[in-house]
Amino acid sequence: MTEIIVTNPKARQAFQGYAGLTEPKITAITEVPVIEQTRYSSGMDELNRVLGGGLVPGSVILIGGDPGIGKSTLLLQSLSYLALEHNTLYVTGEESLHQVRLRAERLDINKEGINLLTETRIEAILQLANQINPKIMVLDSIQTMYTELLQSSPGSVGQVRESTALLVRYAKQTNTILFLVGHVTKEGAIAGPRVLEHMVDTVLYFEGDPDSKYRIIRAVKNRFGAVNEMGIFAMTDKGLKVVNNPSAIFLSSHAQATAGSLVMATWEGTRPMLIEIQALVDESKLINPRRVVIGFDPNRLALMLAVLNRHGGIITYNQDVFVNVVGGVRVTETAIDLPVILAVISSLKNIPFPRDLVVFGEVGLSGEIRPSQSGQERLKEAMKLGFTKAIIPYDNAPRKELKGIQVTSVKHVREALLHIN
Ligand code: TYD
Ligand code: MG
Repeated sequence: MTEIIVTNPKARQAFQGYAGLTEPKITAITEVPVIEQTRYSSGMDELNRVLGGGLVPGSVILIGGDPGIGKSTLLLQSLSYLALEHNTLYVTGEESLHQVRLRAERLDINKEGINLLTETRIEAILQLANQINPKIMVLDSIQTMYTELLQSSPGSVGQVRESTALLVRYAKQTNTILFLVGHVTKEGAIAGPRVLEHMVDTVLYFEGDPDSKYRIIRAVKNRFGAVNEMGIFAMTDKGLKVVNNPSAIFLSSHAQATAGSLVMATWEGTRPMLIEIQALVDESKLINPRRVVIGFDPNRLALMLAVLNRHGGIITYNQDVFVNVVGGVRVTETAIDLPVILAVISSLKNIPFPRDLVVFGEVGLSGEIRPSQSGQERLKEAMKLGFTKAIIPYDNAPRKELKGIQVTSVKHVREALLHIN
C-alpha cells in the first residue's frame, strides 16, 4: 500500500491521459482516415529494429536498465543523429550540463542541434519545451522528476506515475517523440509502478553483463512493432557500436568439441540467431541436488529432466545440473528444450557433440518433439555460419534436401538419443 496525497484537484485530470483532449464524438472506424506513419531513423539500425522500424511521431518510449549499462550514452548518440535534421532537447535530472558535454566530447559525435536542460520539475520542463518545440525529447531519468501537483518526493510511486501522465499528454498533444529513462530495481522491473509500462507506447530493456562489452536492447512492449525483438551493441571507448553479426559473437571460439556444449538456433523477434548452450552435470553430495539455470526458465529444466528420466531412462536425481546460455542471452521460446536435453546428456555421459551441429525443438511431456516457428530460417542461418549437421523436429524437416547441411529430423526424444554415440 502506498499513500498518495492529492493536493490539487488538477491532479485528477492527469490520470485521464491524452484521451479526451478533444470534444468527445463517436466515429465509425471506416471514417477514420488512414495515415501512413512516417518513421524517423534513430541513427542506429539495431535500435530501429527494436522499435519496429524507427521512431513514430508522438510516441513515448521507456528505456529501462541497470545503472551504468549505457542508457544515457545510447540516447545521446541517437540524439546526435536526429539533431542533424530535427530540434532536440535532452533533459537531465542526474548529471550536470558539464558532464553531458564531456560525454559528447568523449563520444566524438555531432553536437549541433542538441539542446540541454537540467531541471527536475515537470511543469518547468514542459513550459520550456513549449518554447522551442523539440521534435525529440529525452528525460533522463523519470525517477528524478517531480510534479508540483503532488507533495510526495521524486521517485515515489505517485510522482513517477503522475509525472509520466503529464509527459505522455504533452507528447500526444504536440506529436513529440519522448524517451523516458527508467531505473531498474533489484528484482529487474522498472522502478516505480508497473502502471508506467501501461502508460507508454513502447518499453525497452537495456541489459548486459557488466563485465562483457556486449549490450542487448529488447522490446517487451511495442504498440508500433513486434516484441521480443532485440538489438545488439558493443560498448567501446567511443560509445555504443552496432553489432552486425550477432550469431558470431555468442558462439565461443574453442575449436575443439567439448562435452556439455551445444549450439542452438533460436528465433528472436524477427530473426534467427545462433547461441551456445552449456550444461554441466556432476555427481551431487546433497540430498536435494542443485538445479541452476541461467538464461531461460528454470521450470523448463525440471520438465526436461523428468522427460529424460521417464522417456529416455536417464537418471539425474543424484546429479547437480547446471545449464547456462552463453553470452548473457535470455531465451524465452520453447525450442530450447531439445538443445537442453542433449547438452545435459552430453555432459552426463562425457560425449562431445561435433562443433558443426545445430539443434532446436520443443519437447512435450510425453517425449514427443514439436515443431518450432521459422524452422527454415533457422537452418539457413546455421548454414550461413558453416554448420553442416542439424537435429530438428520432424515437422520442421525441409521438403527438399538442403545442400551443405545434413538434417536429421526426429519425432521423439528416444530417436534424438540415438544420435549420441
Ligand atoms: P551511461 O550511459 O552513463 O549509463 P546509464 O545512463 O545507463 O547509467 O554509461 C556509463 C558506462 O558506460 C560507464 O561505465 C562507462 C561506459 N562508457 C564506455 O565504455 N564508453 C563510452 O564511450 C561511454 C560514454 C561510456
Ligand atoms: Mg544515465
